[in-house]
Amino acid sequence: MHEAAEARQLVASLRAYLEDLQETGVDGLVYGEPAMVAAPEQPAAVPAGASAGAISTASAPSPEEAAEKETLEKVRLDLGECRRCGLAGTRTNLVFGVGNPAARLVFVGEAPGRDEDLQGEPFVGEAGQLLTKIIAAMQFKRSDVYICNILKCRPPGNRNPEPKEIEQCQPFLLRQLRALRPEAIVCLGTFAAQTLLKTKEPISRLRGRFHDYHGIPLMPTFHPAFLLRNPAMKREVWEDMQQVMRLLGIELKK
Ligand code: URA
Repeated sequence: MHEAAEARQLVASLRAYLEDLQETGVDGLVYGEPAMVAAPEQPAAVPAGASAGAISTASAPSPEEAAEKETLEKVRLDLGECRRCGLAGTRTNLVFGVGNPAARLVFVGEAPGRDEDLQGEPFVGEAGQLLTKIIAAMQFKRSDVYICNILKCRPPGNRNPEPKEIEQCQPFLLRQLRALRPEAIVCLGTFAAQTLLKTKEPISRLRGRFHDYHGIPLMPTFHPAFLLRNPAMKREVWEDMQQVMRLLGIELKK
């Protein structure tokens, strides 16, 4: 990444981290001997050797616990066999995310559908096949990028995610993004864009331009499932993806 862009991202991430701390009640940091700093209240530690299969109902770790050298493995371990919301009762598989942990580009969708629930992998159904074509048109392989969702479990009947479900699940997505630190994020559809950008603006107004997510350029665009119903809108999505390609220095093949 360009040095100036890297510095901007670092400053924005630090600012976001300090805001996170403030939101969790930390109103000052002590510079000096670590021993002089009052130890924050410790959450229940992940038991040594706990696997991703461990049942977990504990609330998500706070940002300051999560901020130190975040990794996808740690996030997966903390998520465990999640039972934080009602979707645990109806899912077949929890769908964490898939792809390259060093991806330059991350796609964030809404929630697993039926095929994803059955296979435990995001975007493998019809909409997923369209997303794979979009990724290929951008000159990436699916395995080059990282793909995940706002919700890790399928809402029954593919209904919209509920605010409570988003609230419970999104800390894990935010930690995934912190671990990945991509050069760009593409939000697929209303829920992904509105959740990460903390806005209620419709996707039609958000798409087509970059927004800032903790120093990372974020491009909202239409969801592939919407494109299946409205193929004429593929042109807009392709325009959005070309902007992402330009940002990443990828030349369009003539
Ligand atoms: N739609 C999504 O938003 N995510 C998936 O994983 C599949 C379909």
